[in-house]
Amino acid sequence: MNKELKILGIVVFFTLVTYIGVEPYAHSQMHKHVEGHNFVYDGTADIEEAKEKIAKLKEEKSDTTKAEAKLKEKEAFWASVKKIAALKGDAKAGEATFQTCLGCHNGSGVNMGGVIPPSLDHAGTLYDKNYLIALIKNPAMASNVDHKYKNTALHPMGSISSMITKDQDVANVVAYLKEKKVGEESAQQAFIDACSRCHANRYGKLTQLGVIPKFKTKEDELSYKLKVAQEQDKVKKYMGKLPPDLSEIIRARSEEYLETFVENPQSQLPGTSMPRTGLTKDSFEKVTEYLASTGDAKKPNRDALGWKVLLYFVGFSILAYLWKKQVWSKLH
Ligand code: HEC
Ligand code: HEC
Repeated sequence: MNKELKILGIVVFFTLVTYIGVEPYAHSQMHKHVEGHNFVYDGTADIEEAKEKIAKLKEEKSDTTKAEAKLKEKEAFWASVKKIAALKGDAKAGEATFQTCLGCHNGSGVNMGGVIPPSLDHAGTLYDKNYLIALIKNPAMASNVDHKYKNTALHPMGSISSMITKDQDVANVVAYLKEKKVGEESAQQAFIDACSRCHANRYGKLTQLGVIPKFKTKEDELSYKLKVAQEQDKVKKYMGKLPPDLSEIIRARSEEYLETFVENPQSQLPGTSMPRTGLTKDSFEKVTEYLASTGDAKKPNRDALGWKVLLYFVGFSILAYLWKKQVWSKLH
């Protein structure tokens, strides 16, 4: 009896050491810890990054002139966003200005400079207000991919800054988007709007063109596949590589990683071409809900079954112990 308890104690001890100590330690070594910003888009992270870059250049005794100019540019940009955020937007006037956006965001499914512009039906709830303001002022700066451009007006949505030039007009469009009443957005639709112009989701039957339709003939199916391949080539050319299929990403990356990555991709993969998408906390949760449903569809069943299995093992252990005691009692 005593010996068995000792063995059990040793097993429990090493299991706990692995679970509480080793695993989290290995995890922390493999993924650097990144400070989240709780889905607030006020440029803090971007300015911090620019400062870190200057510090690093100084350490290397390299020239910091360009990096200093970048920092100034970022500070001025986010200060201008703050100024617009303080204006009172006129949603009614914004509706007229919104027609400018529909020139590109019109659901025609035509690729524009690398991707198909997403639907803006739910933009008011999907994206953060500050982020939307920043995006209309300068899409490359807002999504923190300005390092890819010599001139940020060359971003596929970059011409917007020459179409909407007055701060008040920016405030009006954003007020319109925020007030626009549309029904609740599904988790799948949130993923389509925010991510699927770049990322397919095989298990969710999504490609860069949207939901895979039902095909009547083999020819239809092949011609769809060809269109997907052509679209993927354009995305690849724009991003430098084909963004990965996200069917199972929820298993490969922790929620904390996904959160800080989506909030600011540069924080986890410096220099990456994936833009920041400006989601609010709620819409990020919707997107992860969708990713969980495609990546781990059996999880609810497993969770429901888990305690029953545990109960079974506890009962089984008691019976096994009683049985063993009885067998051995005859031998002593
Ligand atoms: C404009 C294109 C684009 C959009 C939109 C986009 N991504 Fe990405 N994403 C990329 C690219 C490109 C990569 C590859 C990044 C790399 O390896 O540098 C990537 C990589 C990723 C990765 C893998 C990161 C890793 O550590 O390997 C995840 C997770 C991800 N994206 C999630 C999302 C989610 C969630 C959304 C929607 C909220 C989204 N992406 C929207 C382009 C995009
Ligand atoms: C010249 C075409 C064009 C115009 C005009 C335009 N957009 Fe876009 N927009 C795009 C493209 C292309 C993308 C996808 C960019 C990408 O994924 O890199 C995009 C992306 C977006 C996104 C998603 C951003 C993200 O981070 O996920 C939002 C929101 C958006 N546009 C809002 C607007 C609003 C609001 C207007 C009008 C004030 C507007 N756009 C005008 C082309 C345009």
